[in-house]
Amino acid sequence: NGGGQDAKNLRVKLVLLGDSGVGKSCIVLRFVRGQFDPTSKVTVGASFLSQTIALQDSTTVKFEIWDTAGQERYAALAPLYYRGAAVAVIVYDITSPESFSKAQYWVKELQKHGSPDIVMALVGNKADLHEKREVAVQDGMDYAEKNGMFFIETSAKTADNINELFEEIAKRLP
Ligand code: GTP
Ligand code: MG
Repeated sequence: NGGGQDAKNLRVKLVLLGDSGVGKSCIVLRFVRGQFDPTSKVTVGASFLSQTIALQDSTTVKFEIWDTAGQERYAALAPLYYRGAAVAVIVYDITSPESFSKAQYWVKELQKHGSPDIVMALVGNKADLHEKREVAVQDGMDYAEKNGMFFIETSAKTADNINELFEEIAKRLP
């Protein structure tokens, strides 16, 4: 903005939701530490990490990230983490149509029980596995558009679009 008078420091509660194994923890590890763990363990309950980014207008955004457990046995805990969240990142695996259905379940759940002004992103992860793709880009895009969500495909493995995901979320904050 030239003078920098509009610089702000924002703090944002963000929750990641989606089926077990879609790569939620790997997305967070890539974003926060710049690493990829091919032997990533299933998350138990949830884990918390934070990361701050600077935008071009020198606003900083501190993401307080709740990485939830996707296994069915933890589903009842989800409201503890999405309650009061300003942002929900709903992740599926582009090689798994079941995980895309599960993502749609989470979108509906948040539409019913999340904050009314929550910013939602739909993420198709494992984009590096294009030879095994079973969910078309267009299907993700269309579903996101119908539901007023931001859409992106990422790869935690190659780092493709990981920073972009969080930057685009930051731009959409109210
Ligand atoms: P829960 O904690 O059980 O909910 O699973 P999660 O969504 O956190 O999955 P996690 O991040 O642990 O990743 C599961 C598996 O997918 C691991 O073996 C990862 O190495 C692999 N994986 C994650 N992201 C990618 C990716 O972008 N590409 C590829 N090829 N594999 C990935
Ligand atoms: Mg996990």
